[in-house]
Amino acid sequence: MEQELHSLAAEAKAHLEALTEAGQLEDFRIKFLGRKGDFSTIMRQLGTASKEDRPRLGQLANTVKTEIEELFEKKKSSLQSSATTSDDFTKPDLTLPGRRPQTGRLHPVTRVLTEACAIFENLGFSVAEGPDVEQDYYNFEALNIPAHHPARDMHDTFYVSDSILLRTHTSPMQARIMEAQDPPLRVIAPGKVYRCDSDITHTPMFHQVEGFFVDKNVSFADLKGILTVFTEKMFGKKLALRFRPSFFPFTEPSAEVDIACVICEGKGCRVCKKTGWLEILGSGMIDPEVFKMVGYDPEVYSGFAFGLGIERIAMLKYGIDDIRLFYENDLRFLSQF
Ligand code: FA5
Repeated sequence: MEQELHSLAAEAKAHLEALTEAGQLEDFRIKFLGRKGDFSTIMRQLGTASKEDRPRLGQLANTVKTEIEELFEKKKSSLQSSATTSDDFTKPDLTLPGRRPQTGRLHPVTRVLTEACAIFENLGFSVAEGPDVEQDYYNFEALNIPAHHPARDMHDTFYVSDSILLRTHTSPMQARIMEAQDPPLRVIAPGKVYRCDSDITHTPMFHQVEGFFVDKNVSFADLKGILTVFTEKMFGKKLALRFRPSFFPFTEPSAEVDIACVICEGKGCRVCKKTGWLEILGSGMIDPEVFKMVGYDPEVYSGFAFGLGIERIAMLKYGIDDIRLFYENDLRFLSQF
């Protein structure tokens, strides 16, 4: 039996070395290590060995079995890993469909904002930027809105402290620029603004483009001309504009400008609240009081100003019926642009 165990070990080793494919492993296991295999057959003879020889033969049988099992496991893992490498990973499967790389794109609001700035730059306006966290002075006081003025209520302001706030419009840039520069001025100031406001046409953060033009003899006709050219360029066609008399403490006279609702083509829908019109901007002739505060002589200079709502324009341009969709970050929505 001792001799048989030694030759079984030698035979098993040689057999294992000759294996080249993982599929052959199971046959080896059955032949050498299976219940009816060669090792078990030899072990059955242990009962017939003498009492003195039995412990030594039992120990030898265990050593031989462990050795074969260890060699088997080694071979198994080496054959399996080379099978995986060669079959699954190194050879490309040319029948698989290609993977399209995901490309990023500009957010629709960024697109409209960039386009709006480009249109005004082509009309001779220069671009200025100012802080989102603003002083109460520039957001209100310098625009002829003193403390306790009822117009402050319209702004739904987020305050940081008594004198610091998140700007509620881009108009503080009028005061900041005019304070620092002399006319003639033709400036736009794009940026984020904040108001405690949310429904299908209002978001708590939105974008405005402030525009102002100060020189001698600037008139309301100039304002109408610039805004008409802007809407034609932005929408690529002539669109009806409605100048609606309004009130802003920093312009006199003032007008809000509506554009014919492109979503319902003026028939009336939930976006235009059944009116057929959607407000896109506030505007007017700069109030003499504002000029006085920045040291301009209102007898010499006149000017117009406007503040465009960029999300509203994006809604009309792309036919979006709820402004909040712009900020939900749903890729199914965003990837359409
Ligand atoms: C103003 O903010 C004035 N500063 C505009 C102005 C500038 C008037 C210069 C005169 C001279 P108003 O609050 O109406 O005005 O806002 C201007 C535009 O911003 C609106 O016409 C609208 O298009 C947009 N808007 C206002 N509130 C929101 C909001 N919560 N979400 C999205 N867009 C808004």
